[in-house]
Amino acid sequence: MKLTIIGTGYVGLVTGTCFAEVGHHVVCVDSDAAKVKVLQGGGIPIYEPGLAELVQKNVAAGRLSFTASTTEGVERSDVIFIAVPTPPQPDGSVDMSFIERVAREIAGAMTDYKIIVDKSTVPVRTGDKVAETIKRYCKAKVEFDVVSNPEFLREGFAVEDLMKPDRIVVGVRAPRPVAAMKQVYEPFNAPIIITDINSAELIKHASNSFLALKISYINAVSVLCEATGANVQEVATGMGLDERIGRRFLNAGIGFGGSCFPKDLSAFIKISEQSGYDFRLLKEVQHINAEQMERFVKKITETLWVLKGKTIGVLGLTFKQNTDDVRSSPAIDLCQRLLKEGATLRVHDPKGMDKARAVLLDVTYVEDMNEVAAGCDALVVATEWDEFKQLDLERARKALTHPIMFDGRNLFEAQEMEKLGWIYKSIGR
Ligand code: UGA
Repeated sequence: MKLTIIGTGYVGLVTGTCFAEVGHHVVCVDSDAAKVKVLQGGGIPIYEPGLAELVQKNVAAGRLSFTASTTEGVERSDVIFIAVPTPPQPDGSVDMSFIERVAREIAGAMTDYKIIVDKSTVPVRTGDKVAETIKRYCKAKVEFDVVSNPEFLREGFAVEDLMKPDRIVVGVRAPRPVAAMKQVYEPFNAPIIITDINSAELIKHASNSFLALKISYINAVSVLCEATGANVQEVATGMGLDERIGRRFLNAGIGFGGSCFPKDLSAFIKISEQSGYDFRLLKEVQHINAEQMERFVKKITETLWVLKGKTIGVLGLTFKQNTDDVRSSPAIDLCQRLLKEGATLRVHDPKGMDKARAVLLDVTYVEDMNEVAAGCDALVVATEWDEFKQLDLERARKALTHPIMFDGRNLFEAQEMEKLGWIYKSIGR
């Protein structure tokens, strides 16, 4: 099939590439001409495991191309996906201006029937607004259908999530676009749920909010574990073996971050409020998440007492492993709090240091994780990178003035660490 994706961020670029990988002909559009140039030249503006290889392969096969022209994108395909940002506004509501602009641009370029699919995360009832906008701005007065098709990929695992999805959600207002949508997704061999547009839009916000709730739940349980001498990892495993609960997203830590959960939670709370419902449960999820960070900082200050004049090594800057993304990263938040307390920081991240440099100033960036501990008073693990498990613990222990580690992601085994001579503090254990 011929498909167009508007927006080449994480969602748009990975989606377009995976569509090409299963045999569709895909044109990716972005209004940022400089970014399009990079992509046309074989560059990839983001780090995502496996993506660069797939882009190269599909460009070479003639199935994937890039353009800055929305008109070209609309002309070349019958199905047009919108994957542009929906950033938060100061009051928690969603800025819909990118979606609205793209809808107008598509409308202006349409000369025959098109299916316009929204992939961006949007408030419920956005489909209706997009349809109204297209109808108003379409000079050719041609027929069209609007579809909601939310995306569930995780950064760092985006290619994997896209190629092997748990489910595909397709929200429609009429049956006409269903056959084409099934054809788009047939190669992915996943269950396809056909529903109305409002339900499809709600599925996305309800899913992300539920996952955030799951994390806050286990973080709350971790507080209880610390108070009672239980081990949160054992509790999570015991809970998670119940298929109704599941083990995933039950890892206690310093809280969730990133460009999705915090934003989507605020948006969902706002949407609920606008619909006349006070979603207090989700406000508590936010509250627990904020407290989790406070509690971790307190753990550090209670042990080290005064941070002024102390040097702390921080492992991890990205909001999670396998990404270079530092947006709303708990690790960056933690660094800023430690700096505010007067600490000097030596930091390292396997992929996120370039992006961190723009937001985290006045710290020493260390290229080799095994050199971070040199001259530090303590070591902090802030992101769950698997690489950190390979840290040379003996070398780090000797390099520190005192062998203290605060593990905000429970990467190491507590008993093992104590045996090795560490003063080891983690979460809920
Ligand atoms: C999230 C969802 O998982 C995706 O399904 C969704 O498509 C995406 O948002 C989106 O809306 O675009 P993502 O933000 O990439 O994906 O990352 P996650 O893997 O969900 O992690 C989010 C945060 O939760 C990270 O800070 C991570 O460290 C934290 N987390 C995750 C925990 O603290 N504990 C866990 O058990 C799992």
